[in-house]
Amino acid sequence: MTGSERVWFVTGAGRGLGFAVARAALIAGHKVVAAARRPEAAEEALADLPGAAENLLAERLDVTRPEDARLAANAALNRFGRVDVLVNAAGYGQIGAFEANAPEDVQRQFDVNVFGLMHVTRAILPAMRARRSGRIFNFSSIAGVRGRPGGSLYAASKFAVGGFSEGLAAEVKPLGIFVTVVEPGYFRTDFLDESSMRFGDIAIDDYAEVTAAIKGGYAQRNHKQPGDPERLAQTLLALADEPAPPVHFAAGSDAVEIVAAKLAAWGRELEAWKHLSAAADGSFPDAV
Ligand SMILES: NC(=O)c1ccc[n+]([C@@H]2O[C@H](COP(=O)([O-])OP(=O)(O)OC[C@H]3O[C@@H](n4cnc5c(N)ncnc54)[C@H](OP(=O)(O)O)[C@@H]3O)[C@@H](O)[C@H]2O)c1
Repeated sequence: MTGSERVWFVTGAGRGLGFAVARAALIAGHKVVAAARRPEAAEEALADLPGAAENLLAERLDVTRPEDARLAANAALNRFGRVDVLVNAAGYGQIGAFEANAPEDVQRQFDVNVFGLMHVTRAILPAMRARRSGRIFNFSSIAGVRGRPGGSLYAASKFAVGGFSEGLAAEVKPLGIFVTVVEPGYFRTDFLDESSMRFGDIAIDDYAEVTAAIKGGYAQRNHKQPGDPERLAQTLLALADEPAPPVHFAAGSDAVEIVAAKLAAWGRELEAWKHLSAAADGSFPDAV
């Protein structure tokens, strides 16, 4: 696929990172299926780009609806004949202490970030398998690398994306399909905005301080995040050219630092406890 024109299918293409990827792919001369809950908005924002008349297809896709995913995938294949690159960007953060969130909040987080991503992947994979070719970029997060107070649910969903992507990558690599899980740091989108981020609303005094600290931190950072969505989009375009793309990709220098710190801390913990770990299978029977 190196250097050639591709067909990109991007979820969450109405705004944020999905929009940036759809836009960059169109500008680079690729064909783009901009899949969004409000496809009219995506179409309006992208329609003036050169080549959009031939190369842009805006499709309705709420990722929680498997039928939307199936119809959007069919529309993509009918119009362009194939999908070369799937970008699963749609997602949001369900924030606040675990106990401050109702079971429905947890369900919705997984419905969008995990099951939604799977619905779309399930709809696109058969056509990629048939051609023995394809790329899938699944958006996880630095929250898919390490858990933090007030972020347990979002982290749970993004760790799930990471685990799913790692397993899927190994399953479909022999079929010519590469899966990369993208772990961005802080990027300047609406992500920290009230229009995206949701806080659990069960008030529990024990968590009031941490919740207030998170809200304050987000308010300060909102729309001032260091990461540039356009640069991330260019990075994905470049990765799509790589003959052997990574399974994990930390996006942004903050993400690189966080992943490195996590790996080091995990390594230290493993080392410190390995006598007991080994004792669990009887390797060091004297250790317990
Ligand atoms: N920006 C960051 O700092 C950052 C960091 C780490 C990871 N991420 C991840 O990157 C991805 C993109 O986030 P972003 O920064 O672009 O956030 P954003 O600006 O808040 O955009 C979120 C996008 O997801 C879409 N979406 C949400 N629920 C959906 C649903 N049920 N069906 C279809 N689309 C849905 C939104 O569509 P509507 O316009 O219809 O709401 C919007 O296009 C997410 O998976 C996020 O977790 C972002």
